[in-house]
Amino acid sequence: MSILIKGGTIVTATDLYRGDVFVDGERITTIGTALDLPADRVIDATGKLVLPGGIDVHTHLDMPFGGTTSADDFEWGTIAAAFGGTTSIVDFAIQYRGQTLHHAMETWAKKAEGKAAIDYGFHMIITELTDQVELEMDALVGQGITSFKLFMAYPGVFMLDDASIFKAMLRTGQNGGTICMHAENGGVIDVLVKKALAEGKTAPKYHALTRPARAEGEATHRAIALAEMAGVPVYMVHLSAQRALERVMEARDRGLPTYAETCPQYLFCTEDDLRGDPPGQGQGEWKGAGYVCTPPLRPRHHHDHLWRGLRNYDLQVVATDHCPFCMKDQKELGRNDFSKIPNGMPGVETRLHLLFEGVTQGKISLNRFVEITSTAPAKIFGMYGKKGTLAVGADADIVVWDPKREKVLGKDTLHMRVDYSPFEGRKVPASPSHVLSRGELVVKDDQWVAKKKQGRGQFVRRSTFGL
Ligand code: URP
Ligand code: ZN
Ligand code: ZN
Repeated sequence: MSILIKGGTIVTATDLYRGDVFVDGERITTIGTALDLPADRVIDATGKLVLPGGIDVHTHLDMPFGGTTSADDFEWGTIAAAFGGTTSIVDFAIQYRGQTLHHAMETWAKKAEGKAAIDYGFHMIITELTDQVELEMDALVGQGITSFKLFMAYPGVFMLDDASIFKAMLRTGQNGGTICMHAENGGVIDVLVKKALAEGKTAPKYHALTRPARAEGEATHRAIALAEMAGVPVYMVHLSAQRALERVMEARDRGLPTYAETCPQYLFCTEDDLRGDPPGQGQGEWKGAGYVCTPPLRPRHHHDHLWRGLRNYDLQVVATDHCPFCMKDQKELGRNDFSKIPNGMPGVETRLHLLFEGVTQGKISLNRFVEITSTAPAKIFGMYGKKGTLAVGADADIVVWDPKREKVLGKDTLHMRVDYSPFEGRKVPASPSHVLSRGELVVKDDQWVAKKKQGRGQFVRRSTFGL
């Protein structure tokens, strides 16, 4: 099958020009102006942008968490991703205590195989670091799982102590892996949560009030210090707060290889969303449960800092931390106790829609839009060349993006398997008209058009850090 995408504006992290892209089989084989090659299908991209497919390096599909399981499995989550212009994800496999990394990898491979509709890779969450696990880290790097998430929060569940974090970092110094850090001071947060509950403070807003930005700033500082002592790069996941960003900026100004990701919810939602509707409207305070994620949403002034961080290269990536739970039966678990509300928000489908608002509002350039949503994640997580750009030889993961195709976001217009949308009713200025995954047209005008859905996605064997 060959596809010629004609007359669009090709945008990469560095270039922007009128041109045509020719796809033969799964790869891009020619890029030029006025290409006149016979093709099985021609896509007229006049007036549209031609972008490398989005890469979301932070998803939690089919993830047991908080007494339930995230609502999107690898089928639903990857289909929703494709509808939103994302053609690769990297999901988090979890080593639970007492288990091997190998077992975790096999478990997540089974969740994805035969289900994923777009290409996928795995990071590995380590919750217990033994000598055996250190050896397994080396093996995983060789198998294309080259990044490890460590938690400084969730004591008793995911949290690692500083010594284990430091040891894991030293190991990646030898095997070339990358440490992804969830930076919040879990001990302090635990005390604040218990205190709030003892005072009868049970509503969703207390999720934010018991996880202060200082707790993220402190842990970010500590993570960077540990990485500096270990002499390794560190990648901060889901950075939400000005204080944390300042720690990253200081480190980068000192020349340390510190990298950070933020997520759309920290750029578009605020702590006020956790307070729910004004009394008497909708579901009242409880509606805030739909906005419970960790780290929590912050007051509005943080937005400006994060946008500036993206513009100035202090933040490298926007991923989603897609971790959806339905209001009914799932978020409900915390109806009388905010600490039991499963943490996470849906987002894998809406990342590009939302971030493009940043382009239309002059907050980031088109090139930067491509860089933070596709190119930088591909480079940092060892996929660049195959993924993350439009180049001859690269996988034909391509989005034809219509800058005039408005969309109203909502649970009924999106494909994520949740019973609410944090952005219900929000009109976004642009959407994809065509999405290609490894050379196959999968989405056209909001319809799934590929013959196959489940199982067409392939595991991406990643190499080590490449920025
Ligand atoms: O609320 C969140 N972020 N849920 C997923 C777990 C995590 O820490 O990324
Ligand atoms: Zn996390
Ligand atoms: Zn996460």
